[in-house]
Amino acid sequence: MFDALKIRGGKPLQGTIRASGAKNGVTKLLVASLLSNKKCTFHNVPNIGDVEITVNLCREIGATVQWDKKEKIIEIITPELKTSYVPQKYSGSNRIPILMIGALLGRTDEDIIVPTAGGDLIGARPVDLHIQALHALGATIEYREMKKEGAYFAQAHRGLNGALIHFSYPSVGATENAILAAVRAKGSTCIRNGATEPEIMELVLFLQKLGVNIMIDVDRTIHIQQASQFYEVEHTIMPDRNEVASYAMAALSTKGRIFIEGADHAHLISFLNKFRTIGGGFQVQKGGIEFFHRGELRGGLHLETDVHPGFMTDWQQPFVVLLTQAQGTSVVHETVYENRFGYTQVLKEMGADIELFTGCLGGKKCRFADKNHAHSLAVRGPTPLQAKEIWIPDLRAGFAYVMAALLAPDTSRITNVHFLDRGYEELVEKLGTLGADIAREGSPKMARISNCSVTTE
Ligand code: UD1
Repeated sequence: MFDALKIRGGKPLQGTIRASGAKNGVTKLLVASLLSNKKCTFHNVPNIGDVEITVNLCREIGATVQWDKKEKIIEIITPELKTSYVPQKYSGSNRIPILMIGALLGRTDEDIIVPTAGGDLIGARPVDLHIQALHALGATIEYREMKKEGAYFAQAHRGLNGALIHFSYPSVGATENAILAAVRAKGSTCIRNGATEPEIMELVLFLQKLGVNIMIDVDRTIHIQQASQFYEVEHTIMPDRNEVASYAMAALSTKGRIFIEGADHAHLISFLNKFRTIGGGFQVQKGGIEFFHRGELRGGLHLETDVHPGFMTDWQQPFVVLLTQAQGTSVVHETVYENRFGYTQVLKEMGADIELFTGCLGGKKCRFADKNHAHSLAVRGPTPLQAKEIWIPDLRAGFAYVMAALLAPDTSRITNVHFLDRGYEELVEKLGTLGADIAREGSPKMARISNCSVTTE
């Protein structure tokens, strides 16, 4: 099956695009809607693979979903659960099935069965913190082999009870799972050292509209009270900060100038600091942010990924491509995932000068110190990049490769594009609008995400 992008680089990106709704926001809110039997209406829903997968998951367990892709609206209502078994075909599809446990525990006495979690190939991605939190709230969770694949069996036959949950690390997914389960747990729940990413705040806003009393202290403590009544909700999905940052970096690396309508300054503070330090220009305007090249890019940077409000790990791969174009040596320390530098091999084959290290380079020691994971790198620039046949291993590495291809003067061919389809709405159209020389191989239908199988991950 054809599924490839052809990109001929060397042209600066110029023009205006609109930010899509956030993948990591909307998918969680669709799952959160399963907590109640009330209708939820979402606006600004992106037409991407991860939403398609999540909608199908919700339908499996009894939700009625109407998705107007043109108007970007989803209406979802789950009057009652048809089943609490999420089929194995969703195994490894994305990180959403595991969150079904938190959303459904308080709605059924039946076993909730979900396949093992998937997502990008960027490390072991364990779920121990999810399980710890759900246990604390009174659930029993077991891992069992099922049809030769793994599945989690969860139940709370004696009901859920509010609890004190203290995370050793502020996992985004585990915090979301704990919050979802706490909504139907008797009394109140307190989550210490929880994640506070903007997408978590999005969940908090949604839940408050749904009828939940929930608050966050300055020290990452989250308090949730059992909800006694639910209401219909209307919610506009926040702009995707990862998409915005991706295009901003692509524009800067190609010496371009773009305006992104709907980009939200508040979600990009640590990104914009680094963007300016490397030499990029930006101007926050009414209705969006303009990003532009304003002279030679300066390396010599120390970049450390971290939980919010730190520099987000999903910005790391495209930023490394940017650093290949900057004068001097920069150091990057990945502290969120132990194995998120696999993509650099292809960049090296394209001409980048990158060296990996197992130690914690630069600032603090992280969880991966002395664990022998290559989680630091040094990148020396500027280096010209050459076109290449590229196979995409995960979503953000995929965008990094698109960026690299936009810099190479000849034509690169990029395969395994479904990873990009998971998270970037209308990638080819948007880059085309900005003047990139990009085409998708195959029939025009292939370019439409609505035709992507949900089991390709
Ligand atoms: C979410 C985002 C992802 C982003 C990440 C960190 C979605 C769909 N994905 O992923 O884009 O990169 O947050 O901002 O929203 N961990 C454990 N035990 C657990 C859970 C996590 O050790 O039970 C570890 C992971 O292996 C990883 C780190 O915690 O090293 C961060 O993971 P987590 O914050 O849970 O990320 P996700 O929610 O999977």
